[in-house]
Amino acid sequence: MSNVFVLDHPLIQHKLTYIRRTKTGTKEFRELVDEVAGLMAFEITRDLPTEEIEIETPVTTAKAKILSGKKIGLVPILRAGLGMVDGILRLIPAAKVGHVGLYRDPETLMPVEYYIKLPSDIQERELIVIDPMLATGGSANDAIHSLKKRGATHIKLMCLIAAPEGVEVIQKEHPDVDIYLAALDEKLNEKGYIVPGLGDAGDRLFGTK
Ligand code: URA
Repeated sequence: MSNVFVLDHPLIQHKLTYIRRTKTGTKEFRELVDEVAGLMAFEITRDLPTEEIEIETPVTTAKAKILSGKKIGLVPILRAGLGMVDGILRLIPAAKVGHVGLYRDPETLMPVEYYIKLPSDIQERELIVIDPMLATGGSANDAIHSLKKRGATHIKLMCLIAAPEGVEVIQKEHPDVDIYLAALDEKLNEKGYIVPGLGDAGDRLFGTK
């Protein structure tokens, strides 16, 4: 089964509280999501492999570590996933970014894929799929299937908030995918919103509705 990691760093939790609040406006919401994404990226990349190289400092020669292994690819699910990209790119500026466009059919709550554009070498990359709200799990599940169909083998899923229902879907369908969350909430309501959640992440990020 895939592992679920709730990143309970105090800074992440503090900022998430303000993200959740109704009275947090678009500008502050966007800034906080960006900051939390950066903090989460720090934790998610904790297991990246390193190798030692020899360098010269002004004082001596020394062995020192640099990143090795697979390069990173970010795959935000449109549109709310976009809100977390820049925060991650500040830590991993060389990452390539693919996009998957999915919307939820309001009747069935099932994802419909309307856009996909990926780096050509995704099979050689460690991919981080970004879906801020893992609700039914339908969009993330669909996106991960799309990536695997195109040859991706190393995938992590990064979400701000998840419902247990969404986590269960990913664990069942993708036991190889580790899931990183800022919070695991209580449940989904009858409209498919995470409770207590933060409302519609896309609308709050982009000031729509
Ligand atoms: N998508 C959102 O933006 N919010 C939810 O609560 C569920 C899905």
